[in-house]
Amino acid sequence: MAVWRERLRGLAYDLGPGRWYRSAWRFMVADVDLREGAWLDVGCGPGILCVLAASGNPALDVVGIDVSPGMLARARLHKGGALNITLRQMDASHIVYPDGTFHVATAIQSAHHWQDPAAILREVYRVLVPGGRFYIYEADPDAEVPEGWIDRQAGWPPEVLLRRRWRRFGMDQARWDGLKKQVEESPFGTDVVDERHGFYRRLVCTR
Ligand SMILES: C[S@@+](CC[C@H](N)C(=O)[O-])C[C@H]1O[C@@H](n2cnc3c(N)ncnc32)[C@H](O)[C@@H]1O
Repeated sequence: MAVWRERLRGLAYDLGPGRWYRSAWRFMVADVDLREGAWLDVGCGPGILCVLAASGNPALDVVGIDVSPGMLARARLHKGGALNITLRQMDASHIVYPDGTFHVATAIQSAHHWQDPAAILREVYRVLVPGGRFYIYEADPDAEVPEGWIDRQAGWPPEVLLRRRWRRFGMDQARWDGLKKQVEESPFGTDVVDERHGFYRRLVCTR
């Protein structure tokens, strides 16, 4: 993709979803609740989750990886001078870190993009420590949106727009069931918890 199109894509995402989901990301950081060790965010996009996770936790190293240079350009802006955040352009189906590097991995609204989920699940499993957890979140187009989970300004974004996006960039029950089956067929096996978290579906896979 042309550089300027990539940059525009990152900017557009950052100015839209990058603002709407801040509270939701805060709830996820609280959900994962890792204050020290190493955290991998797969498909980190504009990197706000990385910033929220790393902030105030100097003993935590957060690594955000994404295939998109445009998204990473935005993530670098948000990272500022934070010493405990590393951002790298990388396809999650080939993670360059050694086995057992991370205590936790997250993938938020990224799985619906994955070209090769089996390879990504294998790689995330490999780079987690034994007992490490992989949290996969995808927006559910039919979910109730709990109070305080979307950051609206003057009524924007309206509910109808969000649901339209989640139909396109989230997972309905059939897609979700397909992803869960792939997890169960991956090295993570059947030790997987399938729950809701706000307006997201969430899989917690343990190595
Ligand atoms: C909808 S964005 C979500 C970004 C961020 N996690 C969030 O919650 O806003 C999905 C991201 O996943 C990234 N992505 C898709 N496939 C990927 C892969 N195989 N490896 C790394 N990143 C990937 C995309 O480039 C994109 O930035």
